[in-house]
Amino acid sequence: MTKIKYAVIGCGHIGKRHAEMISRNEESELLALVDIKPKDQLGIESYAATYFSSIEEFLASDIAKQVDVVNIASPNGFHATHALACLEAKKHIVIEKPMALSKQDAEMVIYKALHVHKHVFAVMQNRYSPPSVWIKELIDSNKLGKIFMVQLNCYWNRDDRYYKKDSWHGKKDLDGGTLFTQFSHFIDLMYWLFGDIQQIQSKFTNFNHAHLTEFIEDSGVINFEFVNGGLGCLNFSTSIWDKNLESSMTIIAENGSVKIGGQYMDKVEVCHVKDYVMPDLAPTNPGNDYGAYKGSAANHHYVIENVVDVLKNRATITTNALEGLKVVDIIERMYNQQVPL
Ligand SMILES: NC(=O)c1ccc[n+]([C@@H]2O[C@H](COP(=O)([O-])OP(=O)(O)OC[C@H]3O[C@@H](n4cnc5c(N)ncnc54)[C@H](O)[C@@H]3O)[C@@H](O)[C@H]2O)c1
Repeated sequence: MTKIKYAVIGCGHIGKRHAEMISRNEESELLALVDIKPKDQLGIESYAATYFSSIEEFLASDIAKQVDVVNIASPNGFHATHALACLEAKKHIVIEKPMALSKQDAEMVIYKALHVHKHVFAVMQNRYSPPSVWIKELIDSNKLGKIFMVQLNCYWNRDDRYYKKDSWHGKKDLDGGTLFTQFSHFIDLMYWLFGDIQQIQSKFTNFNHAHLTEFIEDSGVINFEFVNGGLGCLNFSTSIWDKNLESSMTIIAENGSVKIGGQYMDKVEVCHVKDYVMPDLAPTNPGNDYGAYKGSAANHHYVIENVVDVLKNRATITTNALEGLKVVDIIERMYNQQVPL
């Protein structure tokens, strides 16, 4: 059995999850870990992989020659640059969400990948949660009939415990904004289920983050139409006091109604659909934990399994580069279609 060989760039919270999931996958092997922070500050001593203090040092090394796949888990604003460098070195890449901070950058990544004939895997691991798999099947099988309305509510807490001065969080060029960093998983699920959107109108405001972030918004209401028909809206905020409230999706359709709620869309709260009995779903994995914060469902092992399956010709990519680009495109249009309050 040949093992797929990996490097991980960015060894913070999520980079270490990649490292761990690679190490646990029996068809995978972790060869290199890359981070600009000194090795002893990263908590990566349990991995036998070689540490490099820059992407340039890594790509120039003999170890890089053996690597098949590079997982990019650096801050958002570096994703496109790091992806292009790794594609130039003829590596497949796994890019953490969001794929880039502009559609133009995402296009450059796809263009390069096509040129060097390498795969790009976008990370949207919430697609693997049991409620996501279930609702995807329900919609694709057309049991809901025509989609009339979809409402996404993303109400989380991100305060000064999260936006620290020395962090990339809250910086325009590295973080990009709340839709990119906090809520892109839910925009991805909406795109995956219902397709593209148009006629976007966004209203943004900043209730209590003006001193914490460089963004215009911590909250917003956005309405739109689905290209495939139906109306949609996204209400979001990071101003929720003390802790996350919910990330939910309510679907109003011809043959019934569904609401998926919980902190990260992990619980089916309502399923009332004509001639349909809801099956029992397996429990969703708990959220990735950041001290006081829960992020998205901890499903990264599926991402690594998908990389192995694709490279061994057993499957197609779960979230391909074009889907990664579309999420960036939708978020960019949401930010650009602002109407005054
Ligand atoms: N899929 C998910 O559910 C999920 C959850 C959280 C974060 N993320 C994404 O993962 C990425 C990392 O987030 P995080 O929470 O782990 O952040 P983090 O701050 O914990 O880790 C980022 C790491 O990247 C390193 N880094 C910075 N610049 C670098 C460079 N030029 N080269 C190499 N390393 C560099 C930092 O030193 C740090 O160790 C972000 O893009 C974020 O949006 C995804």
